[in-house]
Amino acid sequence: MHRVVLAYASDMEGFRRAARGLVAAGVPPAAVIWEVAGSGGLPLADEAGPAGDAAGLRVPRRFVELAEKVICHRDPARFALLHEALCALRGNRALLDDRADPLVHRLETMAKSVGRDIHKMRAFLRFRATDDEDGPHYVAWFEPEHHIVRTNCGFFIRRFASQRWTILTPQESAHWDGRALSILPGAARADAPSEDPVEAIWKTYFASIFNPARLKLKAMQAEMPKKYWANLPEAELIPDLVREAPARVAAMLAGGRATTLARLREEALGCTLCPLHGPATQTVFGEGPADAPLMIVGEQPGDQEDLQGRPFVGPAGQLLDSCLCDAGIDRAQVYVTNAVKHFRFELRGRRRIHQSPSPAEIETCRWWLDQERAIVAPRLVLMLGGSAGRALLGRAVAVTRERGRPLSLPDGTPALLTVHPSYLLRIENPAAAEAERARFVADLRAAQALVGAGRA
Ligand code: URA
Repeated sequence: MHRVVLAYASDMEGFRRAARGLVAAGVPPAAVIWEVAGSGGLPLADEAGPAGDAAGLRVPRRFVELAEKVICHRDPARFALLHEALCALRGNRALLDDRADPLVHRLETMAKSVGRDIHKMRAFLRFRATDDEDGPHYVAWFEPEHHIVRTNCGFFIRRFASQRWTILTPQESAHWDGRALSILPGAARADAPSEDPVEAIWKTYFASIFNPARLKLKAMQAEMPKKYWANLPEAELIPDLVREAPARVAAMLAGGRATTLARLREEALGCTLCPLHGPATQTVFGEGPADAPLMIVGEQPGDQEDLQGRPFVGPAGQLLDSCLCDAGIDRAQVYVTNAVKHFRFELRGRRRIHQSPSPAEIETCRWWLDQERAIVAPRLVLMLGGSAGRALLGRAVAVTRERGRPLSLPDGTPALLTVHPSYLLRIENPAAAEAERARFVADLRAAQALVGAGRA
């Protein structure tokens, strides 16, 4: 009998090393006892199985993907089942195509269950803010069904790269200090804080995005099973919201679609129309008077806008503010928004690097921009850069060629196109930067003049 001790419950690397040796040495699954050394990252024990020549053992990529999920399953038989599949793959590389095969079926069912658990953890984990001597520290309690904490850490690191956070679970916990991840032993629910001040805001937000007309109780409970409710601050609102739903639907039918910016903003906060909402912190909706004569449309929120939830507050926004000032335009009188309402970025180390939105993302997000325009009904729309041009004109634009020319949107609204202020920020030569800034201010003045002419 062979005994293999893995370092932790989802130790894929340890399993891979041991299983390769076992398969190469022809050890049958029934002759192996698989054990887990316990949580807390103990080193792999010496007894990692026989060291057979594993050089010839190549498995399809699909098997690796399946195994990476199955290894997280809580079933203690998972290692033996994967070992068995590896042995079977040696004689039949197409094994995974045979969905009717009992072993394949079992592994796929296990992988699906783990996949669902991973998704639930991402959707239903709620951090609560605490403070310690090093500043804010976010702590969450979660009870996963499977051993998915380590697998899910990458998601939370990408999402909250610059925060300090800890996820406590009964089996093992994860701590991110803003730079490095540590895996710690399991914890108890009582170790996690129970309330924080952000919770009241979160509940208000949930109540505002709850759409009574879309209420499907069974689907809602399938998606958000009751066992997660204990961790969700908003869950205590659900019974009341469900009870009030029919009356709210009647009121909505009487009132029609969102006709105020406040209502539209509330709806946009819950937007999941495209995948950009996943990694972004929040929807960044437009802001300004609902009857602003001038609407300025940028591309998408940047890093600062994503964190603060307001358009044009980062470096490009500061430049825009100073140019508006030079052009004699009061930003408080302008409606400022973006073609795309979520920050698209690529993570490089801890930095979130801006990525331009795709034409499909721009098209999807027009749902919000069109409604903003319908409510504000500006006299003129000023488009900053190519993405704004594409969103509003419905086609690719050549900014250098079309800049400053009087244009019309498809519904006839007068429009002007100019460069995006981030373009000005990228010009290194000071004289060229100054000249381009002056051209941009002139474009803002031209826009203001057209707004004034429209009033006459
Ligand atoms: N760039 C934009 O286009 N919009 C913002 O809100 C910030 C930067």
